[in-house]
Amino acid sequence: MQTIKTILPLKQKIAALKQSGKSIGFVPTMGALHQGHLELMRQAKAENDILVVSIFVNPIQFNNPADLEKYPRTLDQDKQLLQSVNCDLLFAPDVKEMYPTPDKTVYHFGKLATVMEGAFRPGHFNGVAVVVKKLFEIVSPDKAYFGEKDFQQLAIIQLLVKQQKLSVTIIPCPTIREADGLAMSSRNMRLTPEERAIAPEIHKILQKTVSLRNVLSPNEMEQYAKKAFNKIQAFDLEYVSVADDTELQPIEHWNDVRGARIFVALQLGNVRLIDNVRIF
Ligand code: PAJ
Repeated sequence: MQTIKTILPLKQKIAALKQSGKSIGFVPTMGALHQGHLELMRQAKAENDILVVSIFVNPIQFNNPADLEKYPRTLDQDKQLLQSVNCDLLFAPDVKEMYPTPDKTVYHFGKLATVMEGAFRPGHFNGVAVVVKKLFEIVSPDKAYFGEKDFQQLAIIQLLVKQQKLSVTIIPCPTIREADGLAMSSRNMRLTPEERAIAPEIHKILQKTVSLRNVLSPNEMEQYAKKAFNKIQAFDLEYVSVADDTELQPIEHWNDVRGARIFVALQLGNVRLIDNVRIF
């Protein structure tokens, strides 16, 4: 695996690979890699000639400075994990390389960006879109892989690709969980042992709620889940939403809805966690 820290040599390398007919699979990350990330990479490696991974903790998508400061950085360990999935190229730029001057681009994602993470983390998705668009320009991937763990982010990226008429194909990948159901996340390593022990309740509550889909209305499901989350003292609930799986808007009635998911965000100690599960 080759590690490249600057844009120009990476672009040249990729241009040469494309010239010789190689397809490029790309997995953008912020590092602190876990099996969830690695699964995206295994799929990307299986479906493309060349696997490119980026590790960049993107400051402009953090609306909370403390969250940015505390974000885990484990580059040496990450490199070993990347070797284990036969990554070909690691792009690991610093902030100056990506933002020599502040990027003021403003994207408009309509109502998709006004709910859930969009409402609770102002500016977050604009920061994600800015960096992902830049990364796509640098890497020019044929396919790029994103996890359903961040389902709203995945929807935003799909809209970005459509709006900007980018030539990359976005491949959604299922959420990878620990054996006890907790969705894998770089932030999990910041949980205390006590918090880690209670965290699997998030997925348990979502699953239990989903099992009632034939007897509860969407609103009743939300209320049921809210109650269950609020019963656990350690959870500081931000939102629960039963929403359609395309525009992620709250659902009033089951009629006319093709696909639906239940989404949650909560604070556990100092760590903010999100998860979502398919309803149908
Ligand atoms: P990061 O949180 O590092 O996640 C990188 C990719 O891994 C995202 O597509 C995310 O959805 C996916 N992922 C994380 N945990 C997962 C899990 N348990 N199962 C499946 N996929 C999982 O998301 C970002 O970084 C950034 O916002 C980024 C897109 C890199 C832009 O900065």
